[in-house]
Amino acid sequence: MSHGRFPQTRPRRNRHDAWTRRLVAEHRLFVDDLIWPVFVRDGRDILEDVPSMPGVQRATLDRLAAHVAPARNLGIPAVALFPATPAHRKDAEGSESGNPENLICSAARLLKREFPALGLVGDVALDPYTDHGHDGVIRHGYVANDETLAVLTRQAVVQAQAGIDVIAPSDMMDGRVGAIRAALDAAGLIHTRIMSYAAKYASAFYGPFRDAVGSGGALKGDKSTYQMDPANSDEALREVAMDLDEGADMVMVKPGLPYLDIVRRVHERFGVPTFAYQVSGEYAMIMAAVERGWLDHDRAMLESLLAFKRAGAAGVLTYFAPAAARLLREV
Ligand code: PBG
Repeated sequence: MSHGRFPQTRPRRNRHDAWTRRLVAEHRLFVDDLIWPVFVRDGRDILEDVPSMPGVQRATLDRLAAHVAPARNLGIPAVALFPATPAHRKDAEGSESGNPENLICSAARLLKREFPALGLVGDVALDPYTDHGHDGVIRHGYVANDETLAVLTRQAVVQAQAGIDVIAPSDMMDGRVGAIRAALDAAGLIHTRIMSYAAKYASAFYGPFRDAVGSGGALKGDKSTYQMDPANSDEALREVAMDLDEGADMVMVKPGLPYLDIVRRVHERFGVPTFAYQVSGEYAMIMAAVERGWLDHDRAMLESLLAFKRAGAAGVLTYFAPAAARLLREV
């Protein structure tokens, strides 16, 4: 490939006018690329701020439809639901995760009724439900893989029965995608999609999320016996390959911006719908700088989101979804 030589070739010519810049643009962010994570809490008539995530709130069920309506009206295809489970409903086994009346199932029924065409993503993992904050059950001081699978499959089935369209296992237990697929199929839920958090890293960037769902306080140690080592990249491809073999319809890389190389490799290798999660800490970093006047909110937001598309992502889970959708609709 000839790249041309100066002065015959001047790359700046194509940048001279807005209309040529638009014509030659290789990637574009659309409202259709966005999934909005939404926090649900117990109680009545509360919409409260998450302190470490400026602009992000937790809503009680009676406020949920009004909270989600703007996103639906902006055309955002799907929301991902996360519960702030009250402490008295947590235990060592995460039993509340399988309660068909838990916050997520109740939220799913309500949102499906209000907004039938809005996609609902349900996170499947035990950390919002365990009193120790880990994503699985603990046996002999270790997060036990196979015992956890039984709890996760029940969680997935009750969520799907309540109206969750996409089960998103974020727990990083081995074999969970296959176990969940089998359980969903056995329950006749053959259309329920699985978006696996296939390459999920043991990251420092989940801190604000753990504040939001209240899973960080009691957490001892980190999650590095089940979440991936940030040092690894080939291992992400093996994780993705296994999840696809087990029946994942879509895969996710998480966190987002620090792991764009993984998004790119996964997308190139497998060519399957590959999503990225711009996690709470990434959101918090941008917002903290915005609050100090060090970054421009709209430009930093849109640039960070476009980066995912450039890396090959089909879409992004982002707390910026409503704000980004609002801007994208204006242009
Ligand atoms: C639960 C889960 C976590 C996130 C999504 N699902 C936290 C964790 O694994 O500790 C993090 C999302 C974010 O930081 O925005 N397993």
